Amino acid sequence: MNFENLLVDQKNNIGIITINRPSKLNALNKKTIEELHVAFKNLNNNKEIKIIIITGSGEKAFVAGADISEFANFSIEEGTELARKGQEILFNFVQNLETPVIAAVNGFALGGGLELAMAAHFRVASNNAKMGLPEVSLGVIPGYGGTQRLPQLVGKGKAMEMIMTAGMIGAEEAKEYGLVNYVVDQTELLPLCEKLAEKITRNSSVAISAAIKAINANYTNGVNGYSIEIEQFGVSFGTDDFTEGTTAFLEKRKPNFE
Ligand code: COA
Repeated sequence: MNFENLLVDQKNNIGIITINRPSKLNALNKKTIEELHVAFKNLNNNKEIKIIIITGSGEKAFVAGADISEFANFSIEEGTELARKGQEILFNFVQNLETPVIAAVNGFALGGGLELAMAAHFRVASNNAKMGLPEVSLGVIPGYGGTQRLPQLVGKGKAMEMIMTAGMIGAEEAKEYGLVNYVVDQTELLPLCEKLAEKITRNSSVAISAAIKAINANYTNGVNGYSIEIEQFGVSFGTDDFTEGTTAFLEKRKPNFE
């Protein structure tokens, strides 16, 4: 499928989505958000794909935020709908995807860009990356989950400071706060993400999806994460992957998950 603002590649069992609007620092306009929904959905439904990497094109930006030119004249109703629809079709959609998603943060990840990286299951950054939620400098607040996911990742106090100051932090500071797992040279960013992805693809995709569900349950209102863990643990026992994984261990061989 051809997209206007995305490039989608497949490397073995890894799907790679590159947001490709470099002249606008890959800012998320409506079209890009809609295309991302379709790209994530297609890769998630593709049985050959076991993991997805999301990154930005060029060496300067992952995503410099939501496209400010598109919403500058919005009314209260339009603003509400922008956040609601975006959360539904992209940010919550990615967080709850069955296929694991790694964000390869290759430069500026601001506003909606950082929110997209935070919706991914974990993040790796290049050493030139700069991250922040600058929305209050525009007279608005983060609307794509930033007020919820940033405190989950870095703690309430640091999130308050980052959101109130609208400032940017560098990659090393982001790692110190637990916002990104690794910091590497830009040339090493995709190779490291692919290495981590390959390691993940050796494990049971079915069990990984169940783990994503159980981990996310802890952050879902009205849902008891421990109950979901018990339920998903039980469900695992009925899967072919469980039979294969435990049999392979007892037979002292590597598992061969379908
Ligand atoms: N929305 C729309 N366009 C954006 C954008 C955004 N969030 N971020 C960057 N762009 C566009 C710029 O308007 C410019 O377009 P132009 O060449 O047609 O004028 C182009 O991308 C390059 O950006 P520029 O500002 O010239 O690059 P820079 O290196 O001087 O600054 C940033 C980089 C990231 C510091 C700066 O672009 C910026 O502050 N962007 C907005 C960040 C933001 O507030 N995001 C949250 C939105 S809710």
